[in-house]
Amino acid sequence: MIQVTFITNDNKTVSAPENSNLLRVSLREQGGIPFKCGGGICGTCRCRIESGLDHTDAVKPKERKHLSEDDLQQGYRMACQTFLNGDVSVSWIPLADRRPASRPAATEP
Ligand code: FES
Repeated sequence: MIQVTFITNDNKTVSAPENSNLLRVSLREQGGIPFKCGGGICGTCRCRIESGLDHTDAVKPKERKHLSEDDLQQGYRMACQTFLNGDVSVSWIPLADRRPASRPAATEP
C-alpha cells in the first residue's frame, strides 16, 4: 500500500494500493481534488505533487495540453491522468479561489 496526503484538505492522509489513479483515490477517500471530466480534457484536476513526484508515472500527452514544461518541472500533474507507485503529497488551488478560465480580454469598443 502507498500513502497519499491531500495537503489542501487539512493534510488528510489515506492508504491506497500501488498503481492507483490519483483522482480515483481522491474520489474514493474524499480527498477533495476538484474534477469534472475525469478524462484529461477539462483541466480541472490540475494539482501539484509537492513530494513524491518520483512516485508518479509518465506524463501523458493529454496532460501536456494543460501543463507547460515549467509546470511539469514544478510537479504539476492532472490527477485524472496520474498513477501512483509510492507515497505522494498533493496540493491544489480550490475551485473557489481560481480565476475564471482565462479568456482573451474583451476589446473595448
Ligand atoms: S478531470 Fe478533467 S482533466 Fe482531469
